[in-house]
Amino acid sequence: MTRLKVWDIPVRLFHWSLVVLVGLSFYTMKTEGAPFVFPIEIHARAGYLLVGLLLFRWLWGLWGSPHARFTSFLYPPGRMLDYGRRLLRGKPPHYAGHNPLGGAMVLLMLISLTFQAASGLFLTDDIFFDAPLHGWASSGIVKSLASLHSLNADLLVVLIAAHLMALLLHRFKGERLVSAMITGRKAFDGRPEDEPAEGLKPRFRNDRIAILPLALVVLALSSLPVIWLWSA
Ligand code: HEM
Ligand code: HEM
Repeated sequence: MTRLKVWDIPVRLFHWSLVVLVGLSFYTMKTEGAPFVFPIEIHARAGYLLVGLLLFRWLWGLWGSPHARFTSFLYPPGRMLDYGRRLLRGKPPHYAGHNPLGGAMVLLMLISLTFQAASGLFLTDDIFFDAPLHGWASSGIVKSLASLHSLNADLLVVLIAAHLMALLLHRFKGERLVSAMITGRKAFDGRPEDEPAEGLKPRFRNDRIAILPLALVVLALSSLPVIWLWSA
């Protein structure tokens, strides 16, 4: 049994912050929002933080550590079908990072979340809150964005439910994906499909020096729109 470091700290912090902020966004709009007096303001602020968080993840998908990169977990349709077939037969191959179906699901979630956060920036609650970019679009466009914001929120619920079901399915197959998203490490019997043929050496160690300064630069870049939105 070999333990591999798969998720870097930025990916893990990204994920659990995302869960809290998306949870808060739904809570403030789908309930009375107690104890907040003006839930829409909390909703919007959670949204501004999500803009920064998602920008961070898009950039980290280009420059981050190996398993965080899009090139490492986006596969051609043939690979996804093959993985799906082997999953149905009950013998899915093991992956260190996202598997081919999981990778596609991650991309879908990121696109849907990004659209949700971006469209929110143009909305109004027609009472006292106008989002920072509200004045930038005509009232017709704002109306369409409001319907899409509502429709896409339902799509997000479906995607998140599918995400949680998939995690449960993998748990039944003996894969502890959730603890890997907490500790960053996964245990394997053999060589995962997406590890290099040279063996199970944690490529991570070589990357470590580059990761912290790079993460800080990407974080600083991603914070700029958040600061602007927060003070707008
Ligand atoms: C990923 C981030 C976001 C999520 C998950 C989210 C989710 C939601 C949900 C579930 C609703 C209720 C839709 C309905 O029931 O029809 C809603 C409405 C709304 N959201 Fe968001 N939202 C996000 C980002 C934002 C942002 C960044 C803003 C503005 C800065 C914003 C402003 C609004 C407004 C103004 C409404 C309508 C409120 C009303 O009609 O009174 N949202 N959002
Ligand atoms: C608001 C709800 C959630 C959203 C929007 C969400 C979104 C995501 C996203 C975007 C990723 C990809 C991570 C990356 O590569 O950056 C991911 C992965 C993951 N999420 Fe979530 N997630 C949610 C809830 C949860 C919960 C509640 C759990 C745990 C019980 C969880 C466990 C995981 C795990 C284990 C992975 C890695 C999957 C793998 O190994 O391929 N997620 N999630």
